[in-house]
Amino acid sequence: MQRTAVIFLLAFSTAAQALDNGLMKTPPMGWLAWERYRCDIDCDNDPKNCISEVLFRDMADRLYEDGWRELGYVYINIDDCWALKKRDAQGRLQADPKRFPRGIPNLARYVHDRGLKLGIYGDLGTYTCAGYPGTTLDTIEIDAQTFAKWGIDMLKLDGCYSNATDQEQGYPLMSKALNATGRPIGYSCSWPAYQGGLPPKVNYTLLGEICNLWRNYGDIEDSWESILNILDWFTEHQDILQPAAGPGQWNDPDMLVIGDFGLSMEQSRSQMALWAIMAAPLFMSNDLRTLNSGARAILQNKVAIAINQDPLGIQGRRLIKESYGIEVFWRPLSNKASALMFFSRRTDMPYRYKTSLKVLDYTPGSYKVYDVFMEKRISSLKDTTEFVVSINPSGVVMWYVAPAADRPKFRHVNTNHGDPFLM
Ligand SMILES: *[C@@H]1O[C@H](CO)[C@@H](O)[C@H](O)[C@H]1NC(C)=O
Ligand SMILES: *[C@@H]1O[C@H](CO)[C@@H](O)[C@H](O)[C@H]1NC(C)=O
Ligand SMILES: *[C@@H]1O[C@H](CO)[C@@H](O)[C@H](O)[C@H]1NC(C)=O
Repeated sequence: MQRTAVIFLLAFSTAAQALDNGLMKTPPMGWLAWERYRCDIDCDNDPKNCISEVLFRDMADRLYEDGWRELGYVYINIDDCWALKKRDAQGRLQADPKRFPRGIPNLARYVHDRGLKLGIYGDLGTYTCAGYPGTTLDTIEIDAQTFAKWGIDMLKLDGCYSNATDQEQGYPLMSKALNATGRPIGYSCSWPAYQGGLPPKVNYTLLGEICNLWRNYGDIEDSWESILNILDWFTEHQDILQPAAGPGQWNDPDMLVIGDFGLSMEQSRSQMALWAIMAAPLFMSNDLRTLNSGARAILQNKVAIAINQDPLGIQGRRLIKESYGIEVFWRPLSNKASALMFFSRRTDMPYRYKTSLKVLDYTPGSYKVYDVFMEKRISSLKDTTEFVVSINPSGVVMWYVAPAADRPKFRHVNTNHGDPFLM
């Protein structure tokens, strides 16, 4: 397949320059507080949902006890509003002692004892977006040292209250400072989102060298409109974004809102499938304590996760945009397999889309197909075989496709990611 070869080379040429901290060779997975819990600091009246150690311990318990960790969801990440409004006498950031009475190092131990990793949030600038102390150029080193000493495993560095000049200096400096701590700390940079996400203001080669992941675009909200808005931007600029991704360096379209309030089941499957195709970090922002079984099944779909976590780390792309609201996405995977996704933006009724693998640029041959959300094998296809997929409004059909001759295996992935053809 011509296209595979080209993308393959691109991916390797960028991956060779990835940030050398040994982390995030596949997109990071876990849980992040922001979208669902924002800056709720009212622990007196909302003790279960406020930003406090109770919330992060609860979510760590759920990741550990409910099968998430084994699937790869290992990060438990704090976002804004964890700190006191003042640094301590030594100029260090400090957690609010009322909401984190046992302190962040204690929370890190709690998380590590359960085989999980702890992420924290900082902001390059005078203040964080919610008005807590920011990390200015002169406090980068002390903050990196503080996080490392606390046992932090990942830092999201936001960019409120700084200008382009400070960001150009600060984001690379933090990368150096994290490295200098000697502790491997995954580094999420919001830098491109503050610079419009596109060249010439954004240099994706440089980002790949200093960050493990980066937010390119605005914050996700709990709505289908928000997901479509993000998707449109990422696909419109896929020729720029797709080659920037690879092992250790990922575009981040923001959190999964599956299990919250804004998405139907169809739309929830769509977000999972789109994020898998885009090789996006999978950070859930939901309430794992009360998650319904439908959302859980989608978020724990093993083949969708295996597609997201494919070791080649090649981001997928949109192949076809039909004028009538049907789109086809494709992602090459290891062992000559691939993921195909048929997506409907329609709002009327299930659409019967007719095509063939040949039309979608597959090389001549026989293929076997596994339907990711139906969780069943479909009869084998020749490249020339015409087939029809029925795509529900705002829904997807996602296929795992492999040459019929080879038995595909997710050998390099977490052993729990099963070969769909053996299930
Ligand atoms: C720091 O960078 C060096 C060189 O790129 C690398 O070998 C090392 O593993 C890095 N250490 C950490 C803790 O990230
Ligand atoms: C950017 O902000 C810094 C303060 O953090 C200031 O010293 C500098 O003059 C600003 N640069 C521009 C171009 O606005
Ligand atoms: C982008 O960054 C890379 C790596 O630091 C550098 O070699 C290149 O010159 C930069 N490109 C532009 C257009 O500044």
